[in-house]
Amino acid sequence: MTTNAHLVGWGRYIPERILTNDELTQMVDTSDEWIRARTGIAERRIASDGETTASMSIQAARRALEVARLEPSQLDLIIVATATPDYLFPATACLVQDALGATHAGAFDLAAGCTGFVYGLNVAANLISAGAHETVLIVGAETLSRIVDWHDRGTCILFSDGAGAVILQANGADGGVLSTLVGSDGSGGELLCLPGGGSRHPASHRTVAEGLHYLRMRGREVFRFAVRTMPDATRQVLKRAGLSVADLNLLIPHQANQRITDASAKSLGLPPEAIISNVEWYGNNSAASIPIALCEAVEEGRIQQDDLLVLVGFGAGLTWAATALRWSKPLPLVEPSPRKKIWTFGQKLRYRYAALRSLVRRFLRWLLSLGVKE
Ligand code: COA
Repeated sequence: MTTNAHLVGWGRYIPERILTNDELTQMVDTSDEWIRARTGIAERRIASDGETTASMSIQAARRALEVARLEPSQLDLIIVATATPDYLFPATACLVQDALGATHAGAFDLAAGCTGFVYGLNVAANLISAGAHETVLIVGAETLSRIVDWHDRGTCILFSDGAGAVILQANGADGGVLSTLVGSDGSGGELLCLPGGGSRHPASHRTVAEGLHYLRMRGREVFRFAVRTMPDATRQVLKRAGLSVADLNLLIPHQANQRITDASAKSLGLPPEAIISNVEWYGNNSAASIPIALCEAVEEGRIQQDDLLVLVGFGAGLTWAATALRWSKPLPLVEPSPRKKIWTFGQKLRYRYAALRSLVRRFLRWLLSLGVKE
């Protein structure tokens, strides 16, 4: 019997702070009209001082576990796709593992720019199909506001913060992930790049003085790459599943620019109701954009059981990826509320226990180190 990877849980976390186009006009030489006309963006979300990629990932992951009715200990792998990890190391995925109390999970970060979430989804789906893992949490999360140059009008109008998460689980039933596609072209690496802080330009007074710790982008070239790549990747991933655009119910593209989304829809011949767009309200939150858009599509009732979905992204690298998915989770999720309350309470206790467990493990490590003679 073949094992399929079914999407059984989803969750998102959006920071509360809204940054409007009008506010941006106080910071750089731009206008609400220009931003709306060239990008479709009206406002974006910015993480508060205390929020990080890990803290937002944890919130999104908890919601995904709730939808899936799974305990953290049932996860056997956690992938966090991000270009803005809390640290270069340890991996943000390990911070998420610890906070969730996912005691049986491996954890790693995945760097593929805005395409990271779809890369992660594809890696997870193929590990599940191969029998290596059963239940995998995939998070796309970003705190891009921390690497944006707020004096650069070519980039600061676009980017934002947030997190989205899904859980894939092995099941012999039909449906779930049908086909996957990943691609890259490193010759375009410099088109979208964070030059400082790595082994080429380690952080120093010089890198800060030269602004190398800020994201740099050649927007027009990235735009051309995106409008070519998204429709191609969509067609290819459908072909791999033995399907075509005519079979597609919903396209969930990376939310970068409304003009890119419109051009992709036009090229594929899709009507507006077959494509998800929320860039107007969130801007581009990179690896978080597709799982957040997926959550919203579910909440808005735009996904029905057995619908054929394609998730397609592009981004730094250059990279691109697509996933064709047959929606197999029954909707809507109606539950008797007392049971839900008890479950949610139990889950809260588990997260408290996870925090305590983390403290105890740190203490034990310190205690054991006392007995080690150097
Ligand atoms: N406000 C007002 N004017 C602006 C501006 C802003 N925020 N940003 C750029 N301009 C100006 C430019 O200086 C340029 O002026 P000039 O003609 O006098 O030189 C003019 O607008 C056109 O610039 P251009 O860069 O060609 O604009 P564009 O139509 O390509 O739009 C982007 C710029 C960034 C919105 C667009 O290229 C884009 O969305 N690219 C894709 C980026 C992306 O998706 N990145 C993430 C990938 S995951």
